[in-house]
Amino acid sequence: MEELNTVKQGDCREILIDYPAEFFDVVITSPPYWKKREYGVKAEYSGWYGELGQEDDPKKFVDHLIDIFRIVKRVLNRHGSLFVVIDDTYQDKSFQLVPERFAIRMVDELGFILRGKIIWSKRVFKYKERDAFGNPLPTPAKDRLNHAWEYVYHFVKDKKYYFDLDAVKTQYSPKTVERLVRYIRNEEKFDPNKHKYSGDEAPPHFFMKERIIRSKFLDSKSTYGSLAGRVVKILAEGKENEKILIRKAVKNVNGYLKMKLKESGLTLRKLSEITGIRESTLSHYFRTDPNGAAIPSRGTWELLKPILGLGEYDEFVKEEYKPVLPILEGGRSNPGDCVYIPTENLSEKHFAPFPTNLVEFLLKMACPKRVCIRCNRPEGICRCLYPKWRRGRVLDPMGGSGTTGVVARRMGFDFLMVDISPEYCEISRKRIFGEGAMLGGNS
Ligand SMILES: C[S@@+](CC[C@H](N)C(=O)[O-])C[C@H]1O[C@@H](n2cnc3c(N)ncnc32)[C@H](O)[C@@H]1O
Repeated sequence: MEELNTVKQGDCREILIDYPAEFFDVVITSPPYWKKREYGVKAEYSGWYGELGQEDDPKKFVDHLIDIFRIVKRVLNRHGSLFVVIDDTYQDKSFQLVPERFAIRMVDELGFILRGKIIWSKRVFKYKERDAFGNPLPTPAKDRLNHAWEYVYHFVKDKKYYFDLDAVKTQYSPKTVERLVRYIRNEEKFDPNKHKYSGDEAPPHFFMKERIIRSKFLDSKSTYGSLAGRVVKILAEGKENEKILIRKAVKNVNGYLKMKLKESGLTLRKLSEITGIRESTLSHYFRTDPNGAAIPSRGTWELLKPILGLGEYDEFVKEEYKPVLPILEGGRSNPGDCVYIPTENLSEKHFAPFPTNLVEFLLKMACPKRVCIRCNRPEGICRCLYPKWRRGRVLDPMGGSGTTGVVARRMGFDFLMVDISPEYCEISRKRIFGEGAMLGGNS
């Protein structure tokens, strides 16, 4: 029986036998790093008996990883993603290139597509300012720079896979927005001597008209797929207090926005050109009929703020409105593959957790909220006439202290955590299911 939302103790190669092929939509994991921390549990790997990560040479370690990921590949959805957080080890003063050896064999031998090499940076040095921020482990080395990042390899099985870039897009800086406003009002033109850009063309924000950014409904709790589904549902169900709230929210948020838009003299089209948010998405913020009204997300509000001269988000978008009106996000630019996420402290004695924020970042992009039971395809790829949905499923086959499970549960996904160490399974269970598990950022 393929149990979910649990922590299973055992060798992942054995535990995963009980799970059908293509069962999980996302795998996020981090194996022990070669010749680093010992976890204290041995097993047999192709005739060698010992602890994963403690092999004599890196090649043998990678052999064993390949054995494990061959098994993991079977249970990964055809349209899913596998993220492997892995770092290198110094020996005789040289990096042993363990991550690179591993990635090459995953592609050559297991047939994975290496879709991304994300750098998880724990410290960033701003050279011009001679300033650094972040918190990697300090190094006593005086003849090299402190190593402050790890690879997060993004593997997929198929060229067509689920990926939601909008979920992690950046916001334009207020400065960029100011410039966009000047541009759109014809107060500024593209000047190659003045404006920084790469390549021969003007930078993309000078072509805002061509920019169509898909919008996204942040809240998935609605059982209706349409934008205003939740509002319609509340109205249909006839809950009087919620109806009153909807009217209040629409008046205070959408009424206000409509007034500010009018004051600004901008049309929706102009506003769309300035912000890069699709006109049809924007229109929902300025509608005062409950069926079509939506509240901008905080990020979108911040973007609109200098353009329309808005007040503070919290002053207008009250907490009580959020459950009754849909919150709509207007995404911006691709954040790039170097992500700064500080490490997080864990009160337990496991010293190698990856941060909850890293897992959240990956799940936001890669884990579908809904997968069709009939075709096992995520929403967006499923073409069934009458799809039947299940929740997205997350696996961490070497789950350690349970970080992946903590975040998956908090985000409303189904999950399976596996670890060979009984001790870490206990820590994991405590973090995932223990008191306060759904609240904090760390453990
Ligand atoms: C780097 S740690 C994972 C840390 C984890 N990402 C976290 O946030 O705590 C690697 C884990 O792999 C586990 N492990 C090693 N060999 C294993 C195997 N064959 N099957 C399952 N787990 C294994 C170890 O016990 C260890 O907890």
